[in-house]
Amino acid sequence: MPADAPHYQIIRDIRNALCYLKRSGCTGFDASEAGLKILNQLGLPPPPYGATMGRETLEAVCTDLGDCTRCVLCESRTHIVFGEGSPNAQVVFVGEGPGFDEDKCGRPFVGKAGQLLTKIIAAMGLTRETIYIGNIVKCRPPNNRNPEPEEIRQCLPFLKRQLAAINPHVICALGSVAARALLETETPISRLRGRFHEFSGIPVMPTFHPAFLLRNPEKKREVWEDVQQIMKMLE
Ligand code: URA
Repeated sequence: MPADAPHYQIIRDIRNALCYLKRSGCTGFDASEAGLKILNQLGLPPPPYGATMGRETLEAVCTDLGDCTRCVLCESRTHIVFGEGSPNAQVVFVGEGPGFDEDKCGRPFVGKAGQLLTKIIAAMGLTRETIYIGNIVKCRPPNNRNPEPEEIRQCLPFLKRQLAAINPHVICALGSVAARALLETETPISRLRGRFHEFSGIPVMPTFHPAFLLRNPEKKREVWEDVQQIMKMLE
């Protein structure tokens, strides 16, 4: 690791803090678009250093997770879906949990909802290789039921460690389960979406889940508005 590597981390933390203060209405410091853009550039280390920089690696989290039997979901799963994408991602998308297709192949968001998510990512000018996709629970709940609180309690610490390892600029929480678990709230997704919240100093934009969009295509406009706010933050 180069001697100056921690600088990147500090700069990204400062940038996230400035964004947070600005959104909270604080003034008296430079959080202009131009200033934040400079911090964006200064805070992005060239790979491969971005993955490590004194932080835990995704590989270490995955090793620790192992062949997990911490909750009952292990009994019916085919594959653990750990998550995938860039360890240096600026954006992390967080879903609810694997469905039928994801359980079969061990990759997140590969079914119909996943194809729509891939389109949303492309419309944002990004690719699945440059972002990261994870889930609140890593094993498929039987019959695609919602994960139980105990299953979330066992699994969420691993997602939190993945988020700490990646340290993205912004998180997009897909759907009610993801938004409520990350933000520790019971507030409905319809009231959470459309504005930034915060998880561990990282801005979180909740939006509707792609599976919900497949059933309610008229909600696509709201999702587009939400992801445009993310794109603006990344400018
Ligand atoms: N829905 C989710 O929430 N996550 C997946 O990985 C697939 C579908």
